[in-house]
Amino acid sequence: MNANISRRTLAKLLSASAAAASLPALARSQQRAVDSSTPHNAAPEDFTGSAARTFPQCFVWGSATAAYQVEGAAREDGRGLSIWDTFSHTPGKTFEGATGDVSDDFYHLYPKDIALMQELGLKAFRFSVSWTRIFPTGTGQPNQKGIDFYNRLVDALLAAGIQPFCTLYHWDLPQPLQDRGGWENRDTAKAFADYAGFTAGKLADRVHQFMTVNEMLTYVEQGNLTGKHAPGFHLDPKRLAQLAHYVVLGHGMAVQAIRASTPPGTRVGLADNPIPTCPVIEIPEHIEAARKAMREENARFLTVVEEGRYTDLYLKKLGADAPKFTPEDLEIISSPLDFVGINIYQPTYVRADQNEAGYSIVPMPDSYPHMLSPWLSIGPEALYWGPKLAHDLWNIKDIYITENGTSSSDQIAPDGHIYDVDRVMFLRNYLSQLQRAIADGCPIRGYFLWSLLDNFEWSEGYRGRFGITYVDLKAEKRTPKLSAHFYKHVIAANRVV
Ligand code: FCB
Repeated sequence: MNANISRRTLAKLLSASAAAASLPALARSQQRAVDSSTPHNAAPEDFTGSAARTFPQCFVWGSATAAYQVEGAAREDGRGLSIWDTFSHTPGKTFEGATGDVSDDFYHLYPKDIALMQELGLKAFRFSVSWTRIFPTGTGQPNQKGIDFYNRLVDALLAAGIQPFCTLYHWDLPQPLQDRGGWENRDTAKAFADYAGFTAGKLADRVHQFMTVNEMLTYVEQGNLTGKHAPGFHLDPKRLAQLAHYVVLGHGMAVQAIRASTPPGTRVGLADNPIPTCPVIEIPEHIEAARKAMREENARFLTVVEEGRYTDLYLKKLGADAPKFTPEDLEIISSPLDFVGINIYQPTYVRADQNEAGYSIVPMPDSYPHMLSPWLSIGPEALYWGPKLAHDLWNIKDIYITENGTSSSDQIAPDGHIYDVDRVMFLRNYLSQLQRAIADGCPIRGYFLWSLLDNFEWSEGYRGRFGITYVDLKAEKRTPKLSAHFYKHVIAANRVV
């Protein structure tokens, strides 16, 4: 081990934690008029956070939602059925049989929700388009009423001075496409690209940032291996690997389709959830192990997207179950991106090992702390190592944290407020590590808190509340939680408060 490196690392860590411990009353409200220009136009030095806890001046503070989780209006204006309609209406698949039929009714209430965003001082909002509002059966004739909804939403966001960031696929595959094999069928990749290109083409005069897909790992594995998400399958390794290949291919084809249908200057990326590998101890040997792990553990998704090849170890491990692909596929999959969005919730700890991979994943002890959701282990440094390793490995120039946040039990106090101090604790610690990554030179341009509103949390139904705004689903009443006030002050001061 190199003593100089470790002393330097230690000094950095100490100054970061000292900064984190103090709350200087310097906070000057830096709430500036929303700049609708894209942050990549700014000079590089604008991205460097100062030694204190401030974020770069043009940092994009946002929040995120997804169509099926918030929109409701499941049968309105010609919307077709997706696999999530089928799945949530199948008894036993979601907690208490919850569905997204009504949810937050964002489809009708979005003007109120945009007012909430303004109140928070949000600079950007990440939403997803429901494929079956645009093409009710997945392909064929577009549905003008569906397009109209997203036009209204985008116009209202812009009128409020909020930049729209649009995701084309947040898991709601049209059911008719699933009936023809879903993502196991190569034609689905093509259908996705057609839909993505068409939709982006309609919005790109006002939307400048598009993401193809959200969290490939989750919908491949939860949907097709564990069966916890739609379509609820348990595929064998060979079929799963081929499906994963068509998913990355769909992403790449969509990148090309969006580029072909939008004006120059439109920025295309994705919102993936690479496993954020964190060194179990921050010393060179484990940091190197985490770097190797970041590449190998994400071989099926972000690695092939960035490198245009599957790693040797990935193909070797799969052997006869490896996916079938052509060199042209790999070229499409690795179509150049303008930015990479990374969703990060929990850490994966890694240690150095003498095995072939050069690392091992350290299992979480039973006593490891987590938030309300049992899977949400607490590890703020994931927000440091995830983007940092992605940047180091692939030299990504623009990174956004496209999701981060937590569930909480969110009790309503006698005074009517929701004092979600656990969420505030979570956000404060994660944001401190995000600031540390930026201060270390990692090009992170923005952060999207998941989520603006409590919403339909997939198979967990409405028990996993992730919003910074409490939603009384019966009355469709919104109440900002303590965490919303926290976030508002973070945005106004442009620093962790
Ligand atoms: C992510 C999903 C998002 C939400 C959060 C809690 O995996 O992308 O839709 O469910 O988790």
